[in-house]
Parts: sequence; C-alpha cells; structure tokens
Amino acid sequence: MHLAEPAPTSAEIDALIQLAARVPDHGKLGPWRFVVFEGDARVRAGEALAQVIANDAGVDESRLAHTRALLQRAPACVMVVSTAAPHAKIPEWEQQLSAGAACFSLLLAAHALGYGGCWLTEWPAYDARARAALGLAEHERIAGIVYLGTAKEAPTERVRADAASRISRF
Ligand SMILES: Cc1cc2nc3c(=O)[nH]c(=O)nc-3n(C[C@H](O)[C@H](O)[C@H](O)COP(=O)(O)O)c2cc1C
Repeated sequence: MHLAEPAPTSAEIDALIQLAARVPDHGKLGPWRFVVFEGDARVRAGEALAQVIANDAGVDESRLAHTRALLQRAPACVMVVSTAAPHAKIPEWEQQLSAGAACFSLLLAAHALGYGGCWLTEWPAYDARARAALGLAEHERIAGIVYLGTAKEAPTERVRADAASRISRF
C-alpha cells in the first residue's frame, strides 16, 4: 500500500461516506456504520490493538510495533462496520452484502475525487477482542477498513481471476 498525504479532508471524508452509503439496501435498514480514523486516532487505535495481543504467546516487539503502526499505513482510514442483525424479513446475508457494497462504493468515490484507497480486513476483523477494542458491539463485524490517501505510485497490475471462465448461461 503506497498511500501518502494528502488524505481527503474531514469534510471530504464525510462527503465520501454520504456517497458510499447510497448502496442497495434491502428493507432500507442501513445495516452499516462508518468509523473514521484520522490523525492521532490512528495511533490510539493501533495502541489499542497492540494491547489486545500484548500477552499472547509468541508476540514479540516487532509484531507489537507492526500492530501499533497498522492504521498509520495511510493518512486516513474508514472502518465500515456491518451492523447486520436477525430481521423478520431481510436475511443477514443481504445486510452484510450491503456493507460490502458500501466498502466498494467508498473506494470508487475516493478514486473519483482523485484519491487512492485500499480495502483490507486483516486479523482485527476476525478477533473478537480487537473488534471490541475498536468499539464494535458483539454482533457487529468489520466489513473492511478502507485506507485512504494519495497514491504515490501506480499500483502494479496483478493476475486477475478470469471472468470469462466464470460465466455460464442458464
Ligand atoms: C473483504 C475484503 C477483505 C480484504 N482483505 C485483505 C487483507 O486483509 N489483506 C490483503 O492483502 N488484501 C485484502 N483484500 C484485497 C485488497 O482489497 C485488494 O484487492 C488487493 O490488495 C489487490 O489490489 P487490487 O484489487 O487493486 O489489484 C481484501 C479484499 C476484500 C474484498
């Protein structure tokens, strides 16, 4: 990830989130929320995550340092949280898909505004202690942490899944 300053301003991040939230949303539940990490908040979040693993077996100082710096790899981050919950009519799966769509909309909106972005989950998404440390309720899940900034070099192209071989006609 090569995302450097400038980051979108706070006002721009709010506007990007307004765009990101215009996703398909069965039942109009708005089954997501957005947590913004700017400036020192990235340091505080990294410290909270480091504390989560500090006493785990095999965690050394280099792992702690990497964890502390996790959210400082870009000048701003937006955590997209799926708030999906059991509902009489709308399956949780559809609520989670809506949160995924919000992540991608956020990326598209950031790119449209001239910024770069990267959608990661990494271990905090799958560690209940980390989710709690970042302020999530027990039923909430991290759909993605979208890292935002200015791309300092063109991303190298990677091998893409072959879409043609994944098309069939019923
Ligand atoms: C839900 C989701 C979670 C992801 N989490 C990670 C991750 O934790 N680590 C990672 O290296 N890439 C992750 N990716 C992949 C990156 O977003 C991205 O696709 C990859 O770095 C390649 O970049 P590109 O798609 O622009 O070529 C994730 C993608 C999705 C959709």
